[in-house]
Amino acid sequence: MARNPYEKCLERAHRVNWRIDEVLGDRRFDPDRDWLPPALSGAAAMPFLRPCEQRMMTHVEMASYAHLFGYAEEFVAPMVLELAAETNVWERGTFEALTNFAAEEVKHMAMFRQLRGRIDEQMGFPLEQLGDVEASVAQVRSKHRASVLLLTACIEWFTQRHYRECFHDDERLDPFTRHVFKCHWLEESQHAQLDTLETRRAFVRMNEEERDRAFDDLIDLVDIVDGWLQEQARADTRNFTRYTGRELGDAEREAMRTALLEAKRHTFLITGVTHPRFLELFADVAGEAQQARVNEALLARLPSLAEAERAEAA
Ligand SMILES: [Fe+2]
Ligand SMILES: [Fe+2]
Repeated sequence: MARNPYEKCLERAHRVNWRIDEVLGDRRFDPDRDWLPPALSGAAAMPFLRPCEQRMMTHVEMASYAHLFGYAEEFVAPMVLELAAETNVWERGTFEALTNFAAEEVKHMAMFRQLRGRIDEQMGFPLEQLGDVEASVAQVRSKHRASVLLLTACIEWFTQRHYRECFHDDERLDPFTRHVFKCHWLEESQHAQLDTLETRRAFVRMNEEERDRAFDDLIDLVDIVDGWLQEQARADTRNFTRYTGRELGDAEREAMRTALLEAKRHTFLITGVTHPRFLELFADVAGEAQQARVNEALLARLPSLAEAERAEAA
């Protein structure tokens, strides 16, 4: 009988747990379908592409979407392992839930690595993906742990939103892609809850000065993630050219890079920072001045978020 939220998460985690071979099996992607839902893709903002080229763009984008999850899990897994190690083993529910959370992220990293191999094989060449993961993990983990927990909460909550709002009901999408992200969503659902609990726990122990530092670091983390998205948007432009053989003029290449970056910022930052559960957590741990500082930083970095706010205010 579950007694606390950690134990409830653990029970559910055990119920939905999957093996990598069950998820991937010998499934293949359907090249005649979209691989990423329209809400997460920049393809529709590239009117100079033919419909079949827009579809191929979603293949390139899904490859980097999957890669970026595995990339982020590289810093989430060791952080959660550290949280588990700091927990008294006799607090069984908490210790087991956190250990299981870390183990699931390690499994997701392996699953996404295998998936990338399958994508490369089907697309016919090794796609250029964001690299230097060791340096990126070191950079993220040099920031205050509470800020990394908040960034992780943002990621875990947008994973929930993407599946429910974009993948779940889209019958036109490639069935293998939907299956992979359904399985990921099932396990991430517990991560979102556990990360939220751990973020609250971290902030309760901190004084005001330390909280200020954590929010400065959170803004740095947004810049780090945005740097990854900018690099991946450039790489995806090259991946598209190689995949399709389509020659692009300078103006088209720039329009493609801009549309890709916009879609990635929406996908990896905006759908997280506007998720109701993330907003609730953020309001609980940040004072008014800290909230204002972070919001101002987000609006300065994310033009489409600023536009949406202006439209709402009008
Ligand atoms: Fe994951
Ligand atoms: Fe996760």
